[in-house]
Amino acid sequence: MKALILSGGKGTRLRPLTYTGAKQLVPVANKPILWYGIESLVAAGIRDIGIIISPETGTEIQIKTGTGDRFGANITYILQDQPLGLAHAVKIAQPFLGDSPFVMYLGDNLIQDDLNPFLDSFKNQQLEALILLRSVSNPSAFGVAQVDENGRVLQLVEKPKNPMSNLALVGIYFFSSAIHHAISCIQPSARGELEITDAIQELINQKQSVEALQLLGWWLDTGKKDDLLEANRIILDTCLVKTIDGEKDEKSQIIGRVAIGKGSKIINSTIRGPVVIGENCHIENCFIGPYTSVADRVTLQSTDVEHSVILKEAQILGIDDRIIDSVIGQRAKLSLTPHHPKAVRFMIGDDSQIELY
Ligand code: G1P
Repeated sequence: MKALILSGGKGTRLRPLTYTGAKQLVPVANKPILWYGIESLVAAGIRDIGIIISPETGTEIQIKTGTGDRFGANITYILQDQPLGLAHAVKIAQPFLGDSPFVMYLGDNLIQDDLNPFLDSFKNQQLEALILLRSVSNPSAFGVAQVDENGRVLQLVEKPKNPMSNLALVGIYFFSSAIHHAISCIQPSARGELEITDAIQELINQKQSVEALQLLGWWLDTGKKDDLLEANRIILDTCLVKTIDGEKDEKSQIIGRVAIGKGSKIINSTIRGPVVIGENCHIENCFIGPYTSVADRVTLQSTDVEHSVILKEAQILGIDDRIIDSVIGQRAKLSLTPHHPKAVRFMIGDDSQIELY
């Protein structure tokens, strides 16, 4: 069994963060989203992993993620020159995949369930495809499935205007080598992409065994800010282990599950978990509230923040208002200046969102 992780794409829904980096490397609880997928595949015993990368962000993904040693996996990078669709990615990965069955994993998806029961079900029933479904309130934003009472898939449609169910296709699929022939039979969709949804529909049309299982735990497609914050909240809530490697002075209070990395200093501040703070941060006269992730080398001074993700080397200095529900990009600087006239002054990147009151 092999795995193919798709880690290309432009990440338009996470701009401006994705102007300077891959969406799959945006951290959730201080770890790149992509790495959760790799770890979950390795936990299911899959070590031979191909990662599809794009020309724009591929090098960054390779440098950060490496050969796979850190995960106990063997990673092969496969360049997709143009974003021609998920099924196109499988097509160009065929030399890597050979005739092996494989799990296809979209690199910005996070799920709570472990993959083993799904893998067992796929293998034991000798299916050509197993898809995972989750009921959602906005099915038109996803691939949508219609299934019979036995879980057999009747029909799949990519982003339908009038969805026939509320069951969305989760971005994790199990395929036998039969998918390659199905892909060779389909045409690009209206948006010019070879859709994996159409390839699975082709398997159904060919009367191959395609089944669906519903996810029981949460599923997050982290391509948007609110989903990213929600993923951060859930991961901190469920996975964070208390570890204090940094230093705190006697005026600081650390309450609940808090992780503080090496070299970080907490001065006259209150940290109420779950909170993760990276390495070499400086935190002084602050309140850091639940569900906040602070990456390495961040400086926070005289600031209150909660339910937020702060990326590496950002600086937030003396902001009077509590910062909530926010994502602050790498090296961004927010400060209060004593200069007159009293006014707000910005230097903001394209597609930024600022909410003032
Ligand atoms: C892709 C698939 C879609 C699936 C979704 C899950 O859509 O085409 O069928 O439901 O991933 O994340 P995309 O996010 O690329 O628009």
